[in-house]
Amino acid sequence: MNAALETLMLAFAGEDALAVPSHALFLGAQPHPALAQWPNLCGWQPLKPQATAWERAGLARVDRPTGRYPLVLVLPGKSRDETLAWLALAHDHLEPGGRLLAAMPNTAGAARFEQALAKACGNLVSLQKHKCRAFQVQDDGQWHAEVFAAWRALGGRRVIPNTNFVVEPGGFSVDHIDPGSAWLAEQLPPTLRGNVADLGAGWGFLSDAVLRRCPKVGRLDLFEADARALDCARVNLAGHARELHFHWHDVCEGLPGSYDAIVMNPPFHVGQATAVDLGRAFLQIAAAALKRGGKLYLVANRQLAYEAVLEASGLVWRNAGEDRTYKLLMAERR
Ligand SMILES: C[S@@+](CC[C@H](N)C(=O)[O-])C[C@H]1O[C@@H](n2cnc3c(N)ncnc32)[C@H](O)[C@@H]1O
Repeated sequence: MNAALETLMLAFAGEDALAVPSHALFLGAQPHPALAQWPNLCGWQPLKPQATAWERAGLARVDRPTGRYPLVLVLPGKSRDETLAWLALAHDHLEPGGRLLAAMPNTAGAARFEQALAKACGNLVSLQKHKCRAFQVQDDGQWHAEVFAAWRALGGRRVIPNTNFVVEPGGFSVDHIDPGSAWLAEQLPPTLRGNVADLGAGWGFLSDAVLRRCPKVGRLDLFEADARALDCARVNLAGHARELHFHWHDVCEGLPGSYDAIVMNPPFHVGQATAVDLGRAFLQIAAAALKRGGKLYLVANRQLAYEAVLEASGLVWRNAGEDRTYKLLMAERR
């Protein structure tokens, strides 16, 4: 069960139920059986697995929200800046007199965001269930435009200090370069050649390292679930005159090609929850996509037991280094 989504949908049930409007926008869209009955519901979802689930439920999706609606639903991501920016985005797509309804888990700071929205809009209505809050405000022409302007600015692209890398809030490692990825980058052999894939490429840090360090790499495929991070990767790698392919793709669905080498810092979170199986799935998919003689280079938190997956996938592997937090694993398909 998606607790925040269930709580959001409670606003349309019971005595004080909101009426389903003629058209609506859903930011961070996730499918729910009750939504199948809604006329003209449009979803925006930057994360590929959730976007696919939305489309498989037969619901309409847009790459960028446009237009104005009497109701905007919001299921924000996990970072503060992203959440406030999404509330501002919801505000920007409301018709005059429209209603904004958001839901999030208590552990994601629901009470804090509810308070912030109440300050910006007044007259907030809230319900609590499933360790989540759903809260709504209706435009009465009195909302504080300057608060929404400040929140909107939080969603813009920024540069990681002391680098030229552009990032967007909500993605992985947007304030600094991840130390594990930095360590893996230093260890990539300059002899790497052929077709290379970067799984969970984020805003392109490891791909940039491959292109800088390995002149014999002919083609690089980036696979990333977060469309915003992938768009930043396009910008960050624009200076490299090499064959690059950017895939907005759920790695768990498999890869369309096979590779001489794969690099990755596999994810092991979905939203706020730890999901080690996601990391394991990345390893299995990578192993299946390696050519004979193909090499896998990965960095992981030390406590993640990935070695058994490499073994079971038929790869020959070695631990290429370990510190207090990370380990580097290198593997080969013989
Ligand atoms: C640990 S981060 C590594 C990012 C980047 N490679 C780096 O080293 O900075 C893992 C990345 O995997 C992405 N990701 C998570 N689930 C995914 C999936 N199912 N398919 C593709 N990418 C996914 C996340 O959005 C995130 O950018």
